[in-house]
This record gives sequence, C-alpha cells and structure tokens, in this order.
Amino acid sequence: MKQNILITGGAGFIGSHVVRRFVRKYPEYHIVNVDKLTYAGNLENLKDIEDAKNYTFLRADICNLDDMREVMRKYEITGVIHLAAESHVDRSIRDPFVFAQTNVMGTLSMLQAAREYWESLPEGFDGKLFYHISTDEVYGALELTKPEGEPPYGDEFFVETRAYQPHSPYSASKASSDHFVRSYHDTYGMPTLVTNCSNNYGPFQFPEKLIPLFINNIRQGKELPVYGKGENVRDWLYVEDHAGAIDLIFHKGRPGDTYNIGGFNEWKNIDLIKVIIKTVDRLLGNPEGKSLSLIKYVTDRKGHDLRYAIDSTKLHDELGWEPSLQFEEGIERTVRWYLDNEEWMNRVTSGDYQKYYEEFYS
Ligand code: NAD
Ligand code: TYD
Repeated sequence: MKQNILITGGAGFIGSHVVRRFVRKYPEYHIVNVDKLTYAGNLENLKDIEDAKNYTFLRADICNLDDMREVMRKYEITGVIHLAAESHVDRSIRDPFVFAQTNVMGTLSMLQAAREYWESLPEGFDGKLFYHISTDEVYGALELTKPEGEPPYGDEFFVETRAYQPHSPYSASKASSDHFVRSYHDTYGMPTLVTNCSNNYGPFQFPEKLIPLFINNIRQGKELPVYGKGENVRDWLYVEDHAGAIDLIFHKGRPGDTYNIGGFNEWKNIDLIKVIIKTVDRLLGNPEGKSLSLIKYVTDRKGHDLRYAIDSTKLHDELGWEPSLQFEEGIERTVRWYLDNEEWMNRVTSGDYQKYYEEFYS
C-alpha cells in the first residue's frame, strides 16, 4: 500500500537514522520529516538523502496544532512515527517547562491533528497508525541487587506490564505523553503503538549525552565528568538496531500494543567509560591508558536513576526481532565515526550549545 509517513524529530539523533532507513528502503513511500531544528536537530545528519524524490523536509513546531493539521491534510498522511522531543535528562532538571511543552503538549497536538484528519476520511482509521517512540526511563529505576561480577546487575527487568514510575522531569514528560497516546486508542479507537527503548548510541548523537561527549572530550584532552561513583547502570543499544525495530514494529506490530526494545546489554557507567577510553586511545595511537587520568568524579545528577534494564522478550517472541550488532563492534564503529567526523562535532558543539555546556560545568 502507498504510504505517506510523517516522521517527527527526523533531524535528531534517532530520527535521522529512521528517516534514512525509510527513505532508502521504501522508495514507494513518501517520507515527510517535520522538525523544529532545536539545538539537537541538524539537517547535516540527513545530507545523503536530502535530494531523494520520496523525501520532504518541513521546519515546523509539533506544538503548533494548526501547522500539524495542515501537514496531515496536505501530505495525506497515513502513518505517523513520532520522535520529536526534548531528550536530555540534565536539561530537564534545569528547565522542566520546555519538556512539558514539547513532550506532552507537542505529542497531544500530533495526536489531535492525526485524529481529526483520519476521522474526516471515508475509511476513517483503517490502514492508519500513530506510532509513538518512548523510553525505558518511564518505568523508573531498578535496584542494583547484584553489583559485583558479570551483568545482569539485578534480578528485575523492565517488562511491558510494569507500572510507570518516572523520576526525572524528562521521564515524567515522556510518561505523560505515553498515557495520552494510549488514551487516544482507548477513547477514540485510534490505532496507536508505543515502544519503550533503552539508551541508544551511535553516529549523529548530540555530544551532550555520555558516549559522544566523552569521545569528544578525550579527543580534546578535556576532563570526563563522571556523575557520583560511576556505578549507575544503563542498557545500551546501537541506534540502527533501534531503527530496525521501529521499521518492523511499524509494519507488523499490533495496534494498541506496547513493545520494549533492548539488547540485554547492561553496563556500569565507569566500565563503559573505560571501554571508550581504551578504544579512543587505541584509534588515536595514544599509549594504552593515557586518557584514564581525564576521569573526574563530580557531584551526582539529582535523582539519578540507579539501573535501567529492558526485557525485550516479547518483541523477540512475537515479531522475531533481535539486535544485529555485538556491543564491541558497535562501540568501535561509533568511536571511529566521531573521530572521522571531527568537523560535524566542531560545528554542532559551537554556538548555543557551547554556552550551555560552559554554564553547566562552571
Ligand atoms: P534528539 O534530542 O537527538 O532529537 C530530537 C529532535 O526533535 C531534534 O531534531 C529536535 O530538533 C526535534 N524537536 C524538538 N522539539 C521539537 C518541536 N517542538 N517540534 C519539532 N521538532 C522538535 O533525541 P533522540 O535521542 O533522537 O530521541 C528521539 C526520541 O527517542 C525521543 O522521543 C526520545 O524520548 C526517544 N528515545 C531516545 C533514546 C536515546 O537513548 N536517545 C532512548 C529511547 C527513546
Ligand atoms: P545520558 O547519556 O545523559 O543518558 P540517560 O541519562 O538518559 O541515561 O547518561 C548516561 C549515563 O551517564 C547516566 O547514568 C548519567 C551518566 N553521565 C555521566 O556520568 N557524566 C556525564 O557527563 C553524562 C552526560 C552522563
């Protein structure tokens, strides 16, 4: 079936991988990318596909309901993959309001624009889908009951049926948006889907997040600010594996349902940081361990969630998904990409971001 798919936040980290995948893999679809181009959105991330015939970029704010109504109508949108959001926990601690505005009100305006347009068609919701991309962080934090030895570092995992218990303003705003999405399914019968994915890593991630920030700092001989004791655990997935899961779920997932996405790949921050240091030093030709001295333990993040660990058994059992990359290979590819794309890094870390970064660490 011919699809006109609206992808929001397509100039951001994960969105750019999703847009690229859909534009290349489905030449018969029209992919419309709506992005406001905040500090985190960058059209350079999509240079390789910007001239594709089946691709349109629109600079717009998802919070503007009239604009979103117009996009739905004008491009006769059949499916929405909604990624646009404010996504960085530290920023949410400093300025929660923009998170409520974009993540909650923005999602609500997307839902409303999609509902109004689809309800106005003779076939209604048939063949339509609103797919909302969420995070594992909405489930809250898990205990570190087995902190020593090999992962997993605890007995519990996040499963789809777990009650939401968000702690940060970021995760609270994502939880709220997830609830709105389900409410549109339950109230209006709109076909919606929600997926909750673990931490992503890979090319084009804005260097305020742990992995690209630390690669950049090592490259520049800057300190590596490790929050608290570095004992917090995150579950990491290569971004293209997330994009692959989104593709599969968009086409095969059951409307109204929820799927967790993750690769059972838990790392304590400090162990992960040592792998990054080792890989960057090796690729830069530095003596082994040279950059270990850059590690600096700093004041912990407020309300820092201790452990995230996703159970993605449902996605594996029902749709046959599994990650394609081993972590070692993913990290190697990622570090190489950032070292090879120094100019990208320099450009995205100039201007506004630089100011924020300096204020944050002063
Ligand atoms: P990102 O910050 O890199 O990109 C967000 C994009 O949204 C940017 O291009 C930005 O310009 C755009 N945007 C922000 N506000 C907008 C607005 N009002 N209107 C239109 N566009 C707007 O984020 P990301 O890491 O790629 O995350 C994408 C989605 O995936 C988010 O919904 C996030 O919650 C979710 N997610 C992220 C991760 C992760 O590890 N990064 C993990 C699970 C889920
Ligand atoms: P981050 O990449 O911000 O993702 P999230 O908070 O959404 O999981 O951080 C990953 C982990 O790294 C998290 O436990 C916080 C920690 N961290 C640091 O120790 N130092 C840093 O400078 C940053 C950005 C994160």
